Amino acid sequence: MLAWKRRLSITAAMACAVTAQGQGAAPARPASQAAAPWWSGAFLYEIYPRSFGDSNGDGVGDLPGITQHLDDLKWLGVDAIWLTPSYPSPQIDFGYDISDYEAIDPQYGMMADFAALQSAASSRGIRVLMDMVLNHTSDQHAWFKESATSRTNPKADWYVWNDGLAATAPGLLSVQKANVHDGRVPPNNWTSLFGGSAWTWVPARRQFYYHKFYVQQPDLNWRNPAVERAMFDVMRFWLDRGVAGFRLDAIPTLFEDPGLRNEPESGGIDPFGAPNLRHIYTENLDEVHGVIKRMRAMVDGYPGNRVLVGETYLPDTAALDKWYGGAAQDELHLPMDMLVGFGAGAAYRADYFRPLLRAAQTDLHGAMPLLVFDNHDQVRSIDRFADGVHDRAIAKGIAAILLLSRATALTYYGAPIGMRTATPTRREDVRDPIGISGWPREKGRDGERTPMQWTAGAQAGFSTSTQTWLPVSPDHVTINVATERADPASLLNWHHTLIALRRSEPALSRGTMQLVGTDPDILAWKRRDPQTGATVLVAINMSGTSRTIDPADYDPAKRPGQAVHTLAQTGGASVSAKAVVLSPYDIWVGKVM
Ligand code: NOJ
Repeated sequence: MLAWKRRLSITAAMACAVTAQGQGAAPARPASQAAAPWWSGAFLYEIYPRSFGDSNGDGVGDLPGITQHLDDLKWLGVDAIWLTPSYPSPQIDFGYDISDYEAIDPQYGMMADFAALQSAASSRGIRVLMDMVLNHTSDQHAWFKESATSRTNPKADWYVWNDGLAATAPGLLSVQKANVHDGRVPPNNWTSLFGGSAWTWVPARRQFYYHKFYVQQPDLNWRNPAVERAMFDVMRFWLDRGVAGFRLDAIPTLFEDPGLRNEPESGGIDPFGAPNLRHIYTENLDEVHGVIKRMRAMVDGYPGNRVLVGETYLPDTAALDKWYGGAAQDELHLPMDMLVGFGAGAAYRADYFRPLLRAAQTDLHGAMPLLVFDNHDQVRSIDRFADGVHDRAIAKGIAAILLLSRATALTYYGAPIGMRTATPTRREDVRDPIGISGWPREKGRDGERTPMQWTAGAQAGFSTSTQTWLPVSPDHVTINVATERADPASLLNWHHTLIALRRSEPALSRGTMQLVGTDPDILAWKRRDPQTGATVLVAINMSGTSRTIDPADYDPAKRPGQAVHTLAQTGGASVSAKAVVLSPYDIWVGKVM
């Protein structure tokens, strides 16, 4: 298990403690917000550029390769794409180690290719979000190179440097004792999420620097105002070029405890051999919120409703609410709700989803939740939620939760066609460094990053090269865009139908959401258009037995003679005003009239 997958389990254990505060529907958007910003309720699509489309046949995806596939995204109904980092980078962490924030990595193209992508996307009504890595840079970034030369250079204080302790100091812990240099050891027991001590020695300074992630990803010192100024300038660079906003990488990790206190052990050892820690002094420190409020003000100064999306793995909905800025809503526009998609004990069960979905509606001061089930760091949702028998039916249920909730929806390339996680089976095939150092307990993230499957043909239509950077999964002969577009019952067409419905039905595009029922097997909710009162009911049978629901039970008005009209369904649910019979794993979406 990846380090922060482990962190997720801590997170989600706390998530289980989420109490459903109130059973009511989320408040309707106040009249003053009637003209909702574009991102509110939008459908966002994450692209991993290395793996989406290879235009020049070198086996690695690139920006023109994304441009070539924009029509597919338009057909699906995508409002915005988020590109994972495409800046110049040594690619130790496949772009999350940035060496120049104001250019495009030559292997993905040039600035002109970025401009062409943006303009082609814009002409299709698709916005472009960049990934912004603020916690750390590459060790090859000019700032770090300068900072590492001495203790007195102009950038000396741009990163988190420390003298460490004498190797003879009392009470040292094993992770410190394993890291002795010139008679010094790290100041505390902090570990990198990617393995080993989080402190690396630099002889030129006779000091350690801190890195939450790889050794090659030194953490910036956000207590230095020059760092904030430089990073806001970088953001302006892209905002000035018209990007619609940013996904903020690892944003809760900007600050560390100034007292450098040891983090408590939480039991067991991580995949890299160090004790598991509760990251209470290196994550989610309150100080970060000041930065985010200033960032929000800066971004809101631009026209066009630019958006700040956060990679926010958090313990519970109350913590998530803080990232919106609570009642003031003056921080992130869309911190990701990782609780629903990645919570501990996650299972395809109504009683797992119901309290989490309800909390997202009732406990965020009416803010728009951002649901996410898939990304480039986690085993694909189809492999986490499916049972090996009803996999595609279950993937349709996940899509229904994602797309029919009152939420902005974020998907990941390949999820709408049901691409599977293809984890390497041999260490020598692994490309993600944590999969090499953590093997076999941590096999890395290659499995969820394999090339996009466009066709049943050679290399799945991803590349003309047979040497793709990760192998094309052999299942592309059946799981691919072309085949699924031609099949009305496919997972891809299910997504297409739901996205169209989400746009055309006012109850789904602007309605309130209320979780209904208590059945552990039937997840059901009601969307109600505050303007017309029209109601859409979504019911998902999460069990292997047929179940009957009475739509009237879900409508407090219970008008006699009420009719129901099916909008979408996966199986052949038999439907009447009094009874909807759902076959095993069926999904039914209907309008109550
Ligand atoms: C989170 C990103 O999603 C992940 O891919 C990356 O390795 C770390 N942050 C470090 O930037």
